[in-house]
Amino acid sequence: MYAFSNAVNSRHSEDIKLLMSQASGKSLISFAGGMPNNDLFPVKQIDDIYNSLPDNIKKLCFQYGPTSGYPPLIQSLKDHLNNKGLPVQDNKILITTGSLQAISIITQEFVNEGDIILTENPCFVGALSVFETFGAKIESIPIDNHGIDINALKNKIATLERTPKFLYVTPNYHNPAGIIYTLERKKELLETLSGTGIILLEDDAYSDLYFNENEKYLTKSMKSFGVKDVEIIYTGSFSKILGPGFRLGYMLSSLEIFEKAETVKQALDACTSNFMQILANEFLAQHKLESYLKFLRIEYLERKNLLQQSLEKYMPKEVTWNEPKGGFYIWLKLPSHIKSTDIFKESVKDDVVFVTGRTFDPDSKKDDRLRLSFSNMPKESIEKGVIILAKAVEKVLKNVKVKNT
Ligand SMILES: Cc1ncc(COP(=O)(O)O)c(C=O)c1O
Repeated sequence: MYAFSNAVNSRHSEDIKLLMSQASGKSLISFAGGMPNNDLFPVKQIDDIYNSLPDNIKKLCFQYGPTSGYPPLIQSLKDHLNNKGLPVQDNKILITTGSLQAISIITQEFVNEGDIILTENPCFVGALSVFETFGAKIESIPIDNHGIDINALKNKIATLERTPKFLYVTPNYHNPAGIIYTLERKKELLETLSGTGIILLEDDAYSDLYFNENEKYLTKSMKSFGVKDVEIIYTGSFSKILGPGFRLGYMLSSLEIFEKAETVKQALDACTSNFMQILANEFLAQHKLESYLKFLRIEYLERKNLLQQSLEKYMPKEVTWNEPKGGFYIWLKLPSHIKSTDIFKESVKDDVVFVTGRTFDPDSKKDDRLRLSFSNMPKESIEKGVIILAKAVEKVLKNVKVKNT
């Protein structure tokens, strides 16, 4: 036995290891992976970009770079975020190795063991594993179809003995719940945090992936509301709009927070891969992103529709869900006496996997939900997968009925 540190004790890290193996299992029909399908990646564009780079920039690809990021990428990102209404002039960008690294840096910047972090329930499991790794005490607040439950948040803040270091939220196309906060709810959230000293960590990994141009306005980030008395750290990612293999993310924050974050990053990995930053920068600077996003939105909408139609056709009526307006996920609600873990045990026998509800519960308990990801699904497998999943649900429903009679 080794004397391991407390950092290795994250429950949710084990869930993620399992999830990643299921997401990429060859013979499986996997609704598990929250990632794009391999066939959607812009392979040809990236080939062309690299091949047409001048030699001096190709050489730079192999080199270390500034900790804060490759300056031309920072500039391209500024333009991109400025178009989305974000206050890039009064804030600083730090390029990170995936946005999960940004979450990790912010946690290291603010959290000592035992400090409180507020999260939504359910919550992105990657963030939970980071918070656990750094010994935070997680206090969670339920969400409904319009966003975080404001009354529950107020009650939670009122009953805590110490001020939480920050509140972590994913307002746009939530992972796993699929919802988008209404603008009203975003406003109420900012009003609630005003004067509390609680920082808002706004994770915006999915906002470019709306299905309907008319609903784009809903993705407006809270960081762009112009509220002065709530400190907001905004994070974003290239993983869902270019490819997770780039491992590129970023954070946008005030100068003071940026400077400390840069120090933390320096000790973590000195800098994010120049190779990936240069390729991503060209993708943005040559205006290839917008047309690629248009293509992705159509692809994901088609997959979402196919999944939705199959669910309507095959799922027992006891199972319900909300139609997502963007992003990657449909979050099914089971009758409360049924566990998604039991459904998983059945469906995996026929090679269909998904992520169980309890994975996203900070307490690893609540299990009456399951997350289906449509982003990674070949269109032709969706119906077959749902038929098998529906059979598994029926079987579990029947078993419970027999047990109770
Ligand atoms: C809500 C959310 N935030 C952050 C991430 C992490 O993304 P990255 O690949 O940039 O680390 C994910 C990935 O699934 C996510 O769903």
